[in-house]
Amino acid sequence: TNDISILAIESSCDETSASIILNGKVLNNIVATQSVHEKYGGVVPELASRAHQENIIPVVEEALKTSGLDKSQLSAVAFTRGPGLMGALLVGVSFAKAFAYARKIPLIEVNHMQAHVLAHFIEDPKPSFPFLCLTVSGGHTQLVLVKSPLEMQVIGETRDDAVGEAFDKTAKLLGLPYPGGPLIDRYAKEGNPRAFDFPITRMPDLDYSFSGIKTAVLYFLRDQLKANPKFIEENLADLCASIQYSLIEMLLIKLKAAVKQYGVKEIAIAGGVSANSGLRKTLTELANRKGWNLYIPKFEYCTDNAGMIAMAAHYKYVAGEFSSMDVTPLAKMKI
Ligand code: KG4
Ligand code: ZN
Repeated sequence: TNDISILAIESSCDETSASIILNGKVLNNIVATQSVHEKYGGVVPELASRAHQENIIPVVEEALKTSGLDKSQLSAVAFTRGPGLMGALLVGVSFAKAFAYARKIPLIEVNHMQAHVLAHFIEDPKPSFPFLCLTVSGGHTQLVLVKSPLEMQVIGETRDDAVGEAFDKTAKLLGLPYPGGPLIDRYAKEGNPRAFDFPITRMPDLDYSFSGIKTAVLYFLRDQLKANPKFIEENLADLCASIQYSLIEMLLIKLKAAVKQYGVKEIAIAGGVSANSGLRKTLTELANRKGWNLYIPKFEYCTDNAGMIAMAAHYKYVAGEFSSMDVTPLAKMKI
């Protein structure tokens, strides 16, 4: 048949995921989340690799089963080549190679950051080209100018921590468990965002810096706790709201500058931090005021998932972009 059906694997960080796409339509998105990292307050690379090794066959089997397709019907197998944790990526790449070799089908490498952007094409409404995508996750903060599915340009990015990392690290200073981003979001709803003044770092051009706020919060808390050991518990909601306010401001200042510079009013956000309700609310109001068309994917496709890898792989298959069998993962990989 002329059907294009692709099995896609994602294993760059702490989610093991498999998805099947048939003629451009994502049929399923199976994700095994690793809980082993919670007690360490962050992702432990060695434990992530081991959990991927345990989870990869079950998630692939589940994806095959729920797709109604048989292995023998697949046209290609895709995997995340990078960026990500080397040991975690290796599990996905090795699996994909073995699968391609056994089934004698082509191999397709996918850039994880490109896939976060292409998650917008899994479901309607889809942005039209060119559009700007703000990708905000635990590992990355990037402003991307998207000209076509496979033609993207990073126009701004963080020079140190990712914004999700800033959420998680400041949450840790407040004594919240990992990952703290969603908890800051929750407590912030009851707090005053102007209660405390945390820095809004302004970098040159369209770049970001999120490491300053962590240090500012650290010293601020140290001083306050000396005077009042109960300072955090008595002010938790205001602290969360004020931290979140600064982080959102930093994100939006550059987004507004990018819109001005590139004259594009199609705006998309991607990555785990796009779940943040403060960011969604502020960005929605801003878009209404400015007349932007705003696109926010379903949460399932914001966090790490193989559905977005499958979507990217479909475009690459159609473009005839395949990988050779000696491909290796890349911890750092440019869009
Ligand atoms: O995209 P993602 O699932 O994984 C990668 O980092 O690639 O993003 C995870 C990040 C974590 O830093 C987490 O704290 C943050 O997204 N996050 C949030 C919220 N939900 C997830 N940050 C703030 N508010 C949220 N509601
Ligand atoms: Zn990601």
